[in-house]
Amino acid sequence: MKGTFFITGIDTNIGKSYATGWLARELNQKGLKTITQKMIQTGNTGHSEDIDLHREIMGIPFTEEDREQITFPIVYSYPASPHLAAEIDHQTIPIGKITESSRILAERYDVVLLEGAGGLMVPITRDYLTIDYIAEQKLPTILVTSGRLGSINHTLLSIEALDKRGITLYGVIYNSFPKSDETIDKDTESYLRTFLKKQYPDTRFWILPEIPLSR
Ligand SMILES: Nc1ncnc2c1ncn2[C@@H]1O[C@H](COP(=O)(O)OP(=O)(O)OP(=O)(O)O)[C@@H](O)[C@H]1O
Ligand SMILES: [Mg+2]
Repeated sequence: MKGTFFITGIDTNIGKSYATGWLARELNQKGLKTITQKMIQTGNTGHSEDIDLHREIMGIPFTEEDREQITFPIVYSYPASPHLAAEIDHQTIPIGKITESSRILAERYDVVLLEGAGGLMVPITRDYLTIDYIAEQKLPTILVTSGRLGSINHTLLSIEALDKRGITLYGVIYNSFPKSDETIDKDTESYLRTFLKKQYPDTRFWILPEIPLSR
């Protein structure tokens, strides 16, 4: 596993930041020098709460690239989809900054995990979607899903959208938190495992455990 990978989810708040921090920690432990990047952070000023969380889960202090804001090159204050948050802050999103940041990080690290905002169809501008960026940059993608009711539907829809644009589904991270209905949870995991094994035999499947934070 080398290069830049896009981390998306079947929905906002599905656990992308937890999954990104966890995978970065796992890869670092395996000896792959791994860093995370947030594509566009909304709802913050001067920092990225997602990068803060990644570092906490990874158990490392802020890096030089965090201090230089290379890992979160674009931040808007209003907690909304990037297209709206940028409009509210009277900004035009400098998309090239995202690519340039990833390029710098990829020069210094083996693996860059680039966390998106929300899911695949989240607008970056009124006529440019997150998935358009992933396709343009040809980024292998990791999809975060869960065991809650509705996840099978959202997962298969996301995978169809990736397929339509020729984007590689590198992996699926199944977030085991929060525990909801155990029967549905177990079936969702086994359904997705079987689906992937049949249709996407090269796609990895990881289980994300509950990650307690000492807060
Ligand atoms: N594996 C986990 N262990 C513990 N808590 C979790 C886990 N996954 C998700 N959570 C909880 O769910 C919330 C949402 O997770 P997270 O912030 O990772 O979502 P997200 O998909 O990155 O959201 P956003 O779209 O805002 O970036 C967290 O604040 C945390 O409380
Ligand atoms: Mg997040």
